[in-house]
Amino acid sequence: MNFSFVTGDAVRAGGAMIVVPLLDGDLGDTAPAALASADKALEGKLRAAAAQEGFKGKADQSLVLHTMGKLASERVMLLGLGARAKFTPEVLRLAAGRAAKTAQKLKLTELTFIVPDTAPAPVAARVIVEGLMLGVYKFDRYKTSGNKEDKKAPGLNTVRLVLPEGASQGQELEDAVELGRQVAQATNWARDLVNEPPNVVDPDRLAAAAQEVAKAAGLKATIGGRREIERLKMGMFLGVAQGSAHEPRLIHLAYVPKNPKDAKRAPLALVGKAITFDSGGLSLKPSDSMIDMKTDMAGSAAVLGAMRVIGELQPPFPVHAFIGACENMPSGTAYRPGDILTSRLGKTVEITNTDAEGRLVLGDIITWAVEHKPAALIDLATLTGACVVALGNYIVGAFGEHDATVEHVLAAAKTAGEEFWRMPVTELQKDALRSEVADMKNSGERWGGAINAALFLKEFVGDTPWVHLDIAGPSTSPKERGYFNKGATGVGVRTLVEYVRLRAASPESAQAEETAAPTKPAKGKARSKTARA
Ligand code: BES
Ligand code: MN
Ligand code: ZN
Repeated sequence: MNFSFVTGDAVRAGGAMIVVPLLDGDLGDTAPAALASADKALEGKLRAAAAQEGFKGKADQSLVLHTMGKLASERVMLLGLGARAKFTPEVLRLAAGRAAKTAQKLKLTELTFIVPDTAPAPVAARVIVEGLMLGVYKFDRYKTSGNKEDKKAPGLNTVRLVLPEGASQGQELEDAVELGRQVAQATNWARDLVNEPPNVVDPDRLAAAAQEVAKAAGLKATIGGRREIERLKMGMFLGVAQGSAHEPRLIHLAYVPKNPKDAKRAPLALVGKAITFDSGGLSLKPSDSMIDMKTDMAGSAAVLGAMRVIGELQPPFPVHAFIGACENMPSGTAYRPGDILTSRLGKTVEITNTDAEGRLVLGDIITWAVEHKPAALIDLATLTGACVVALGNYIVGAFGEHDATVEHVLAAAKTAGEEFWRMPVTELQKDALRSEVADMKNSGERWGGAINAALFLKEFVGDTPWVHLDIAGPSTSPKERGYFNKGATGVGVRTLVEYVRLRAASPESAQAEETAAPTKPAKGKARSKTARA
């Protein structure tokens, strides 16, 4: 998608459609200049039509009218932003997404978008770029029937952004648009990876996708198979993977700054859950719960998408991604309820439910990540249905005890326009994972299930500042909404990128984490510390 800036009277800008974002109640005398001049050119019929159609500027409203040759553009779209008091850049991003979907339905290849002055121009321009690019996203590559011409149509490719009066058209604006473009591209890439069926995205293909990211973004990639996972004594990961016909993959990507001094700093570690299909294993899921389980690798897709942008951003500290990819399947070789697995850390785990597989793989991967002495570790995982019960389909559960790091991640989410909510990591529930025969069991009682999962992961984290993000709900959208379609959302990409930007911009926040960084790893029956991949 190509973006250009224009200034001056928007109504003369021309094009197939001019999009005019409006706050609730902004149709009166206080109306933005673009509305006033379009209404004037249309002899007052624009406001009249809006009134007649009940368009007030509410956040879910829009109105498309043909201009009958009275304006330079063929159509005008009034786009509701809702109340001024509730305005955030995310409101504009969602609205731009709706405009994109409208343009797509009208088969437009170009449009003109009035940048509202409700946010600083670089912020507004960036979220419009993101909203439009995320909004035109479709996953239809497997549809062979229907209108083939539709699929071949060029789609929305040219956007003129009309800047508010007085906004300067400098480097800051260009950079904001470029960042928006990169983030949207990476998010759509992650959405593709999640939407792809599980017979296509298997562990090997996920590793290939990681390699693709590394190549595009100039990162170091190391991929291992079962032998390497055995060498690293990741008994929990191996247990989950052993029921599948597909070999598991161990994935390590590293962004290392060019400046040697920066390269020596403690890295930021990103860990993503990568179960390419979660059948539940022998604790088989009911059919209906299994349908969407190709999305059980959304955490790793978000990490990989973010790594792609991070390679371009070049922050002054290393960033590493750690992923263990496998399938959770029932078979004659599958791990069983009752099995006792020995983790890389040395802790033993009694399996009470083979469907609580994510925490097993993540536990070993977290141990491995912690061995790289990160300044902070963030994991993203479609970990529990319980988190969906607690927070619904749109909110990420954020767990962690290192307040500074949790708050930085929450602040990043807020800037990125993703909804996060802090959840407790309470010791009150620790008994839930107590086992009679091993150091712990992998699934506890149902109540507080999302917390139990976080408590399990915590066992492998040690003193590393750590944030666990349960994205089981928001990794997919149940319906079309704003810039989303039904299906994968790419949640997490935007927040991770923003977190890295925040950390790069404020050395104090990075330092607060680094000084709290561990000198000792998580307590386990000490295993060889030399094994590093
Ligand atoms: N991948 C699922 C969690 C999930 C549920 C993701 C719904 C997306 C949507 C996870 O592996 C799982 O099965 N968790 C179990 C844990 C239980 C057995 C302790 C769950 O949530 O039921
Ligand atoms: Mn499961
Ligand atoms: Zn799972």
